[in-house]
Amino acid sequence: MTLSESLPVTERAADPAGIDLAAFPADFAWGTATSAYQIEGAVAEDGRAPSIWDTFTRVPGAIDGGHTGDTACDHYHRWHEDIALMRQLGTNAYRLSVAWPRVVPGGDGPANPKGLDFYDRLTDGLLAAGIEPSVTLYHWDLPQVLQDRGGWPERTTAEHFAAYAALVAERLGDRVTQWATLNEPLCSAWIGHLEGRMAPGRTDLTAAVRASYHLLLGHGLATQAVRAAAPGARIGIVNNLSTVEPATGGEADRAAARRMDGHVNRWWLDPVHGRGFPADMREVYGVDLPERPGDLAAIGAPLDWTGLNYYFPQVVTADPAGPAPFARQIDRPGVPRTGMNWEVDASGLETLIMRLTEEYGARRIHITENGSSYPDTVAPDGSVHDPERTAYLTAHLAACARAARRGAPLAGYYAWSLLDNFEWAYGYDKRFGLVHVDYATQRRTVKSSGRRYAGIIAAHRSR
Ligand code: FCB
Repeated sequence: MTLSESLPVTERAADPAGIDLAAFPADFAWGTATSAYQIEGAVAEDGRAPSIWDTFTRVPGAIDGGHTGDTACDHYHRWHEDIALMRQLGTNAYRLSVAWPRVVPGGDGPANPKGLDFYDRLTDGLLAAGIEPSVTLYHWDLPQVLQDRGGWPERTTAEHFAAYAALVAERLGDRVTQWATLNEPLCSAWIGHLEGRMAPGRTDLTAAVRASYHLLLGHGLATQAVRAAAPGARIGIVNNLSTVEPATGGEADRAAARRMDGHVNRWWLDPVHGRGFPADMREVYGVDLPERPGDLAAIGAPLDWTGLNYYFPQVVTADPAGPAPFARQIDRPGVPRTGMNWEVDASGLETLIMRLTEEYGARRIHITENGSSYPDTVAPDGSVHDPERTAYLTAHLAACARAARRGAPLAGYYAWSLLDNFEWAYGYDKRFGLVHVDYATQRRTVKSSGRRYAGIIAAHRSR
């Protein structure tokens, strides 16, 4: 019996929570998402080498609570149980990432057979459970050895990424068709190299802009490599986008909003849609791009699908003294917020889906991440009741349905996240899971948001 079958009939009878489920196609991908470093643990097992996150988590003060991904959710050993949870939720898709330092511990050079074997078993396990894997090749865990050689600010990193991508595609490409090159290159470049809040923890605009360029070049080269290794592969990139509004109607704030839109949205979307890097932002950064002939064509090769991660909208004001893009987000009073202090605005998701559809002509869109962190409490009977996360999930799915009704080619939704996990600089105290994890015992408990998700999926399926 699946979890949805065990729900009260009223919960699964018809469009629970008023979501227009008929707007979604019959083959809609109902998924959950995770990433390797956030859940796997087993950082020194079977030949895995350190990544920049193993290094960064050792920097004093870098991570809340001094937490690390050493054990995380122990998914490396518990993946069977985790696939069973996905089945219980009734999902038919799962977005995972492959850890580059597991598969190519030397950064470049030969594959580590045991590393590839893990993802091979996981792929087979998912398919046997009727769950389609969607594989992201880079979710921030650069092999430390490549960081030691300069990391993403260096062109060779993009080339090594493509070689690693080819190895993974050669091994899994007979069973995996859904591929993403990068997860949120914005975070790798801007948060990792400009703001310094994520690995590798640099605060250098030139390094950040060069990293952004080589990340997108890596996307382009990896796209070619995967297409060559796995004919039939469907390849996309995953960006985290925000709606951006000026704090006031004044010209300074409106210009700040345009710059922030360039920084978080257009810098990442324009090049991969064949439009090159936005001229206004090149001027804002004032850093020469390490361009070579042919790069833009590789970066702008047509995508099979576009991945959108959405969490919050941004309202910004001019900040001439701050770092590029000389604009900063303001905290609006009286607006609902999650436990991350992120504003809740489901309509932003609809707006961004329509922007990808209308402005960028996206062929297929997957919501590759969307979710919320709230401080959960475990009731004496062991259950976890999370009404705020449930409301967030429901409102955002309703926004997806509205966009689909308006003609957006929406093909899937992957809730972030299947499990509570290692939330980067915030450690384990920020919980995003539909399933609660007790880190002392590794016990998993489906939260009420997970039960709601199961009910929604079942209702869509039974239409
Ligand atoms: C995104 C990341 C993901 C997770 C969520 C909360 O930026 O891609 O790994 O941390 O935020």
